[in-house]
Amino acid sequence: MKTAIRGALLTFRRDPLLAGVEAGMYYESDGVVVIEAGGVAAVGPATLLSGLGADVAVTHYPEHLILPGFIDCHVHYPQTEMIAAYGEQLIDWLNHYTFVTEQAFADKSHAAEVAEVFLAEQLRHGVTSSAVFCTVHPDSVDALFEAAERRQMRLLAGKVCMDQYAPAELLDNAERAYAESKALIERWHRRGRAEYAITPRFAPTSSVAQLEALGALAAEYPDMAIQSHLAETPGEIAWVKSLHPDCPHYTAVYQRYGLLRPRAVYGHGVHLADEELQLLYDSGASLAHCPSSNAFLGSGRFDLRRARAVPRPVRVGLATDLGAGTSFSMLQTMRSAYEAAQTHGVALSAPQAFYLATRGSAEALGIADKVGSIEVGLEADLVVLNLRSTPLIDFRMRYVRDIEEALFVQMILGDDRAVAATYVAGQLQPAAGLAG
Ligand code: GUN
Ligand code: ZN
Repeated sequence: MKTAIRGALLTFRRDPLLAGVEAGMYYESDGVVVIEAGGVAAVGPATLLSGLGADVAVTHYPEHLILPGFIDCHVHYPQTEMIAAYGEQLIDWLNHYTFVTEQAFADKSHAAEVAEVFLAEQLRHGVTSSAVFCTVHPDSVDALFEAAERRQMRLLAGKVCMDQYAPAELLDNAERAYAESKALIERWHRRGRAEYAITPRFAPTSSVAQLEALGALAAEYPDMAIQSHLAETPGEIAWVKSLHPDCPHYTAVYQRYGLLRPRAVYGHGVHLADEELQLLYDSGASLAHCPSSNAFLGSGRFDLRRARAVPRPVRVGLATDLGAGTSFSMLQTMRSAYEAAQTHGVALSAPQAFYLATRGSAEALGIADKVGSIEVGLEADLVVLNLRSTPLIDFRMRYVRDIEEALFVQMILGDDRAVAATYVAGQLQPAAGLAG
């Protein structure tokens, strides 16, 4: 059965920063997406409707904008209950809040409850896919994938592996990290829309033996995603240097253990030398830009323009990094990315921000052949934005002259109130109240 949705429509074919807005962005002021069997069967101007049978149900969203569903390429679901934890920077924040909170995920029923809240919040914010850190407990991964499967969401997730510098309750070891990750891969990888991601928390919390074990696991699954953290704060970098004095830099640690390759997505990368950016580019690895988290923890401001500079543009996606990130909203995250760029004296354009939050994240995660754009043959994960979601935005939109200005107003002033509808695999999601 075919259905269709009609409204203004926007999607990206390439990064507008590198390709130019003309080549990178596709916009229809009155467009239509035809959906069949969970996928996009046709996309184009609303005149396409005349070629469809009278039996095709069309949902019309006037004054709204249809986009690919947002993709959050780095986020921690167990931290939903500790978002907005006061007063610390990274290492103290991990020790005082995160490592306390994550211990509760030994209890699967707790993990399941938080997973429900987390996914409901994502959908309420128009986030249809994400790459998610669970905790060290395999049950925490089962709980999340089970909740995602009920919603048919395309989700990447993995068990956090760590065997040092955290409370004993949160530590595995090299053998368990390997065996538990492998069992989860066998249970979940490519079951429906689930994909496993090998997940060392970050270099300091994995022994050399564990890094070697995870490198071996990664070598067994050469197409599998890997997720971790890299160069978030200067203190963390000094710590890694002391643990791996023979590595020339932090990025080289991941390279040494076979964890740098396409579909390896590293959160932050705020403080990287040029040679590290070159190495990321050469290996095909990606960075997750986590601007609200970096601002919240006082970690520094990521220089997106530098990371994407030709001739070695590193793949970059946009991420909330919640609970260090302060919002589920990718619009609010774009605003933070704009503010971060401004501290480097460059403006992040609205087309580039929306690209990062959709196709950019999909490319970083290696799922752009499935989601992240509105294209025939891709899965129909879509978000419909109300462009007049608050009295102020409504008033401001009267003075907007073109789509780029309209997008910019949305990313600066918009939040979950702008999300009128979210479609997952072509299915309209019920408007969710807060779960629990
Ligand atoms: N580095 C290692 N673990 C974490 C985490 O949970 N959040 C952030 N922001 N950085 C990390
Ligand atoms: Zn993170």
